[in-house]
Amino acid sequence: MLAELTHRCPLACPYCSNPLELTARERELDAATWARVFREAAALGVLQLHLSGGEPASRRDLEGITASAAEAGLYTNLITSGVGLTERRLRALEAAGLDHVQLSLQGVNPQSADLIGGYAGGFERKMEVAQLIAAQGFPLTLNAVMHRLNLDDLPRMIEMAVELGARRIEVACVQMHGWAARNRAALMPTRAQAEGAKAEVARARAALKGRLVVDFVPPDYHSDYPKACMGGWGSTGLVVAPDGRVMPCHAAETIPGLVFQNVAEAPLADIWRGPAFSAFRGEDWMQEPCRSCDRRGLDFGGCRCQAMALAGDPAAADPVCRKAPGRGLVDALLSASEASVGGDGAGLAYRRF
Ligand code: SF4
Ligand code: FES
Repeated sequence: MLAELTHRCPLACPYCSNPLELTARERELDAATWARVFREAAALGVLQLHLSGGEPASRRDLEGITASAAEAGLYTNLITSGVGLTERRLRALEAAGLDHVQLSLQGVNPQSADLIGGYAGGFERKMEVAQLIAAQGFPLTLNAVMHRLNLDDLPRMIEMAVELGARRIEVACVQMHGWAARNRAALMPTRAQAEGAKAEVARARAALKGRLVVDFVPPDYHSDYPKACMGGWGSTGLVVAPDGRVMPCHAAETIPGLVFQNVAEAPLADIWRGPAFSAFRGEDWMQEPCRSCDRRGLDFGGCRCQAMALAGDPAAADPVCRKAPGRGLVDALLSASEASVGGDGAGLAYRRF
């Protein structure tokens, strides 16, 4: 379960995955409601809780929220930019029972990281926080968000994960949804970069076996088949938005016609079995070519939100798929991107709360 505690964030990343319409602070769930939701989640069978945002440290009551999650028996992972965390807060989070920290990294030096994050001084702060996290003894995952502007730095990014004492690095290429779609031309990797990243991940996995786990979310436009988004809709994951609406994925509200129930009005277990979660669960909703495809149990037809965004039909095969009627749309975007120059970040549209 992903708990988006707030949409507030000091960074302004041009690939922000939060919805286009952000939730104001006054509409955020309070700590007592989160505690109830965590108990309901544990009873429903949720094992892992990702405390996210926005920047979760923007909430002054993060420590109390974390404690209530730990009391509910959930494994807790804090997904953070690091900005807003201090030694005192990390100690308090440890005492609250926080199990794991996932720190995002936008670049390998201040020039690159602060350009992407839109936050001067962010890189230095992040490096300090990484040391504090290590000193506190938290298991650390580095979340490296990659795109055209920083993919050439991937070898250094992986090296930094080792230096910072991370156990895992998630090399996550930007998914071109929501706000990222506005910056698609600037962020879309070139084909050479996509291939280089695949090779570098393979090299690092072999060289760092037993020292660093390297997870990889490839740039999916360059793939022949889509990713199994959320492991299948309504299958294993759920997202609770800052105002309490519960969704099968973070972009689900881009699909028209779905109504998302709120934890204020229904128990989590009822919402899990409700209409929004059932809309694309299983295989009955599938059209051809997915309906009769051998891969349907592997990728579940890909991403519903991407099918909506590109093909205008959330039940269509993800247009990333080579067999999908909409693949031409992805190829056209790739050709346009390949032909475009750039790589200096000029003209990026930043995401500010
Ligand atoms: Fe996946 Fe559908 Fe493509 Fe088959 S046709 S690979 S199920 S997206
Ligand atoms: Fe919604 Fe993929 S982001 S299903």
